[in-house]
Amino acid sequence: MHPPILFPGDVIMNARINASKATQAQPSFPVRRMDYDFSSISKYWYDNDPASTMYFTALSLLFPEGEAFFVRAVRRVRDQVRNNPQLDKDIGAFIGQEAMHSKEHHAFHISAQQYGLNPESLERFTGILLKAIEKLSSKKFNLLATVGLEHYTAVKVVQMMRSVNEPMTDDTIRNLWLWHSVEETEHKAVAFDTYRAIYGSGLNAYLSRISVYTLGLGLILSVSGAYTVILMQRDRQLFNLKSWRKFATLFTRTYGQMLPQFLDYYRPSFHPNQTDEQDLVAQTKIKIGIHEADTAQLS
Ligand SMILES: [Fe+2]
Ligand SMILES: [Fe+2]
Repeated sequence: MHPPILFPGDVIMNARINASKATQAQPSFPVRRMDYDFSSISKYWYDNDPASTMYFTALSLLFPEGEAFFVRAVRRVRDQVRNNPQLDKDIGAFIGQEAMHSKEHHAFHISAQQYGLNPESLERFTGILLKAIEKLSSKKFNLLATVGLEHYTAVKVVQMMRSVNEPMTDDTIRNLWLWHSVEETEHKAVAFDTYRAIYGSGLNAYLSRISVYTLGLGLILSVSGAYTVILMQRDRQLFNLKSWRKFATLFTRTYGQMLPQFLDYYRPSFHPNQTDEQDLVAQTKIKIGIHEADTAQLS
């Protein structure tokens, strides 16, 4: 089939249509500006249990630097998808949401200093580790690490929205996690769509995607596990076997529930929007008092 013949007038008209689409596009989700006060947070805010609390603290310690890594990875390729105004706007909102998550989790870590955990040292180590990976890897690898870990996060937050309401006994920290969970669900496809727009969905793109995901899963499980042990040691609870047993039960149950969703990523036709969590997100927003009037749009 021959390509359509374009006359100068058509070119001008197409340029006007594209420009108008670019100005019309709005992000698919909002950026909410939060400012939690963690100063009176309880010591063991997950089920009054040291090991479970330290595990969630360990996960949280990955966020400020981890999400800054995601933002840099997507920003580095953003110019390659400027021809898709909707995706470009969503990348803007993705960056806004992740920046806000980094800020609020960091504020929580500063408060956790009061319990002698020195969480900031682990946050700094995460930054050193991720910057080393970033420096040694290609743009594509860093984007794929983001895509893979965004899927890990998207699965984890759905599980959290379903299960943490009772065991997270501190309202502020629970709201932090639930707000973060809502937004991870909202932007779960942005990095994936960016990757697909640039690298396609052929065999090569697929094999790269699942390889980096496997590495990313290994990294997040081993680093969060190591941080949990370090925090337990700093809290003088390392040999609290009762707490470790309780945590082991929680961990095996929740990871068992999440396993099918983690494996779903290995399907060649996988896309993050093939699962729908709208009802759960709507209920969670009500629980934590998110009203869309409180939100701001970034571009
Ligand atoms: Fe996030
Ligand atoms: Fe995210």
